[in-house]
Amino acid sequence: MPRPIQAIISTQAMAHNLAQVRTRVGEIQEQAKSSNTVKTLAIIKANAYGHGTLNALKGFAEADGLGMIDLEDAVLCRQQRWQKPIILLEGFFHQADVEILQQYRITTAVHSFYQIDYLKQAKLGMSPIDVMVKFNTGMNRLGFLASQAQEVLSLLKALQTKGIVGRIGCMSHFANADLDSRYVNEAAEQVMQLSTSFDGPLSMCNSAASIRYPQFGIHAAENWLRPGICLYGSVPFDTQLEGFTDVTFKPTMTLMADIIAIQTLQVGDSVGYGSTFTADRPMKIAVVACGYADGYPRSAAENTPVTVDGQPARLVGRVSMDMLTIDITHLPHAHIGSKVVLWGEQGPSIDVVADYSNRIGYELMCGLTKRVPVQVI
Ligand SMILES: Cc1ncc(COP(=O)(O)O)c(C=O)c1O
Repeated sequence: MPRPIQAIISTQAMAHNLAQVRTRVGEIQEQAKSSNTVKTLAIIKANAYGHGTLNALKGFAEADGLGMIDLEDAVLCRQQRWQKPIILLEGFFHQADVEILQQYRITTAVHSFYQIDYLKQAKLGMSPIDVMVKFNTGMNRLGFLASQAQEVLSLLKALQTKGIVGRIGCMSHFANADLDSRYVNEAAEQVMQLSTSFDGPLSMCNSAASIRYPQFGIHAAENWLRPGICLYGSVPFDTQLEGFTDVTFKPTMTLMADIIAIQTLQVGDSVGYGSTFTADRPMKIAVVACGYADGYPRSAAENTPVTVDGQPARLVGRVSMDMLTIDITHLPHAHIGSKVVLWGEQGPSIDVVADYSNRIGYELMCGLTKRVPVQVI
């Protein structure tokens, strides 16, 4: 029998979250009386943010497309009969990748001239590759400057004429979609202006932008939204505080483990490595079969919330590799085998645990380790 720890991945919650994004953007479109096409591409990079690429294919079956980083994942999705668009968000890295893009009809971001050089050497007579020209709007990670747009476009149009390149769209990725609207507005204006020279879709909105700035997701004749984190039930800002009370995302990953030992502490007894927690009253401490080698953050602070058989409880002492300790003094019925939810359904949200750990929800879900058995529902 495996250790009593489990991650539950909910493909139903994934489908629910996708529908939430679509509803929100649909409402904005209705208000604007816009008949533009809006496609929602689910971002499934990094093993679908730790949820498993194949699970994401099931959960996001209704998405209009998928976005990812690894060419291998894109090929896997095609082999699983995913027929709708797939976009590589960072584009491709090697000359040899070009033929695979052609063979599997994979759309690629183009952010640098070396990629255009690789495209020039593509085999003729195969399917044209749809490209999304990526513009740098202040992140200074990937992308061309607006001043390079005409040069890039004429190079790509020449490849379009040869049948190497198909549709040419454009995209950008906001540096501050979850923070400051001033930068977002400037960046969006710039890309919206550029997009008029392109014959393909316009794509600007990740999760935060899809919720906070949906107007930028409906601007062009064809738009591709690129939500990631919110489809997994985590939101990088406070939706309630910002008034998005109608948007409800469900957790897609629940991490739970059993109580495997119970200790009784007297005043002055301490718990765990470094004896960072010392009892100032008689206490009952439960040892839970989950540690940082499972992906629970070692940096989780004293009092990080958990639930025990549905009842709230708190972390005490340092998280170790395979175990963590919680205070169950107030829970007389907690016992060996009681279910402790570390984050997710019927437990604290992954964002709350991340806050207590000085991490972000993205890191926690991506950090679930291989040794944790997964149940998919
Ligand atoms: C280019 C691009 N688009 C979309 C996303 C999805 O972002 P989020 O998970 O914040 O929605 C990412 C994630 O980092 C990205 O790099």
